[in-house]
Amino acid sequence: MKHFLKETDFKAHELPGLFALAQSLKKGRGRHTPPALAGQSWAMIFAKSSTRTRVSFEVGIHELGGNPLFLNKNDIQLGRGETVEDTARVLSRFVHGLIVRTYDHSEVEKLATNGSVPVINALTDFLHPCQIYTDAFTMAERWAQGGDLFASLKGRKIAYLGDCSFNMSNSWILGGALFGMQVVLAGPREFGPGPEIDALLEAEGLAKDYVFTTDPYEAVRDADVVYTDVWASMGQEDEAKERIRVMTPYAVTEKLFAGAKPDALFMHCLPAHAGEEVSQEVLDNPRSIIFDEAENRLHMQKAIMATLAQTVRA
Ligand code: CP
Ligand code: NVA
Repeated sequence: MKHFLKETDFKAHELPGLFALAQSLKKGRGRHTPPALAGQSWAMIFAKSSTRTRVSFEVGIHELGGNPLFLNKNDIQLGRGETVEDTARVLSRFVHGLIVRTYDHSEVEKLATNGSVPVINALTDFLHPCQIYTDAFTMAERWAQGGDLFASLKGRKIAYLGDCSFNMSNSWILGGALFGMQVVLAGPREFGPGPEIDALLEAEGLAKDYVFTTDPYEAVRDADVVYTDVWASMGQEDEAKERIRVMTPYAVTEKLFAGAKPDALFMHCLPAHAGEEVSQEVLDNPRSIIFDEAENRLHMQKAIMATLAQTVRA
């Protein structure tokens, strides 16, 4: 049985098929026969806010013939101290899959180890793999020109600006290595990549090829994609003022975006804080593909759920 807790839970050789499935689900939206989750219920345990992830999973489960159960962490006994282990064991008796958004990455690992149904990481402080797979698919739609989506990623350069120490940058470091992309990150020295992501690259047998610089213009030079995320993530609201102060040089303005390739794309996982990590002009630029990126969460996650459901023995 397969889980999707981190980017490398699919191997590179499985990805062309996964991307092709997402593409076919997108083309035939609502007409996937037989529905991959028919007769199933999937629980979504969320300890943090969400618009895109919550709605795309709820709609996606429904479109695959299943029943989504949204469980705010604070509404179930987990929020009152029942253990993650027991929650995994109990929910596994009722549902066919778990989708989890939480703080500590070890919680999704514990749910996977102690439960007996597939677990999907819907964002932790460490990684956001559903977002990265969707982002890669969204770029590939622009680049593949009818050819192999996954192959079109190879050798492309992504410049990641801002907070390079949290879930989105970690996920790009890991995902970029898996996809054969060049990842260059720029941010304040104290917000650079931490030892945990390097350890994971090593454990997964992937080369530590990414570059971290404090120079935003160096990062965007020759980039095919310029990517950013909020400077204060969920749970870091108290640090927002200081983060804005040190990260302002890494804001994606029209001037910085112009330093990338002339046909470079702008991407952001959203929600965005216009005027902080990115200007409104860049969000509105014709090469900003942020809403295609948001929509594709639905199609990619349907492909992921359909694939994981197949790995469960009857
Ligand atoms: N990008 C993303 O995960 O958005 P939400 O927080 O709205 O789910
Ligand atoms: N880094 C952001 C991503 C939101 C999708 C956060 O964790 O809040």
